[in-house]
Amino acid sequence: MCYQCGSSTRRSFTRFLAAGAGLTVLSACTPEAPKVVPSSSAASSSPAAVTDSPGATPEVATVGSSPEAPSPSPSATLARQFSLDDPTSQWVIVNKHRPLKPADYVPADLVRPAVAISAAGEAALLNSTTAAAAEAMFAAAGRDGVAMVLASGYRSYTTQVTTYNGYVAARGQADADTASARPGHSEHQTGWAFDIGDGGGACSFQPCFADQPAATWAKANANRFGFVVRYPWMLHPITGYYYEPWHLRYVGVEAATDMLNRGIGTLEEYFGLEAAPGYP
Ligand code: DAL
Ligand code: ZN
Repeated sequence: MCYQCGSSTRRSFTRFLAAGAGLTVLSACTPEAPKVVPSSSAASSSPAAVTDSPGATPEVATVGSSPEAPSPSPSATLARQFSLDDPTSQWVIVNKHRPLKPADYVPADLVRPAVAISAAGEAALLNSTTAAAAEAMFAAAGRDGVAMVLASGYRSYTTQVTTYNGYVAARGQADADTASARPGHSEHQTGWAFDIGDGGGACSFQPCFADQPAATWAKANANRFGFVVRYPWMLHPITGYYYEPWHLRYVGVEAATDMLNRGIGTLEEYFGLEAAPGYP
C-alpha cells in the first residue's frame, strides 16, 4: 500500500478543500490496479440481479455475489427488505451507474447527531436513522478509547457541484473521478453516509488514515451499528473510487454484519449489481 504518498502539494490541496468547505477529500495514491472487473460481471454472475423500485413488493432475493466467486449458497439469502432505488431507503445504491433520483434529492429528516463534529453547516447533518446509529457507534468507540469525529456528512447537490469542480480544477477530471462523485452521484447527498476523522487531523482524508485507531476500529466494529466501509482498498474496479477508509455508509446491522461475515466488500457485489468503475 502506498500510504506514504502525501506530497506537500497534495496536503495543501487537502487542507484547501477541507478547510474551505468541510468536504470530503481523497488523496489516495494510485494503487496497483487489480484485474479489472467488467462492468457487467457482478450482475451476470448473480442469480439475483434485481430490478427494484420504491414500493416494490418485498421479495426474498439471493444476495452477495462476487465477480469471481460461485453463486452464494442457498443459506446466503437475506430478505430484500428495502428498495435499491429509493433515496429514502437504507439500501439505496448510488454509484457512477446509478445517479440519485431525483438528482436534487434532499432528505426530509436531516438532523445534527450528538457526536463530536469537525464539520460545519450542512456537513454536520445526517438523516435521522444514520444519526442515531452514528451516536451509538461514536459512543462505543469512545468507550474503547478511540477518538472519532464526524468530519463530513450531508452534502447537497449544489455543494457537490463545488466539491467536484474543485477536484477537477486541481487534479483534472480523470483523477477527480477516482475520488469525488459527480453531482447527483454522491452518497453524501442521501444522508446515509459520512466521513470520520479522529480529531487529530494529521491523516484526515489521507491514505494513512487507514492505520489510525478510528479507521481500524471502524473497519472491525462499524457493522455492529449498521455501517460498512463503502470504498474498500483495491475494489475501485467495482466501486469506482479509490480506498476511503473514512467513508462509512449505513445499511443496517443485518446487512452490514452479513457482508462482513461473508467477506463481501462492496454493496454492488452484495446486491448483485453491476460494477461501476466509470460513468456510462
Ligand atoms: N468521495 C465520495 C466518492 C463522494 O464524493 O461521494
Ligand atoms: Zn465520504
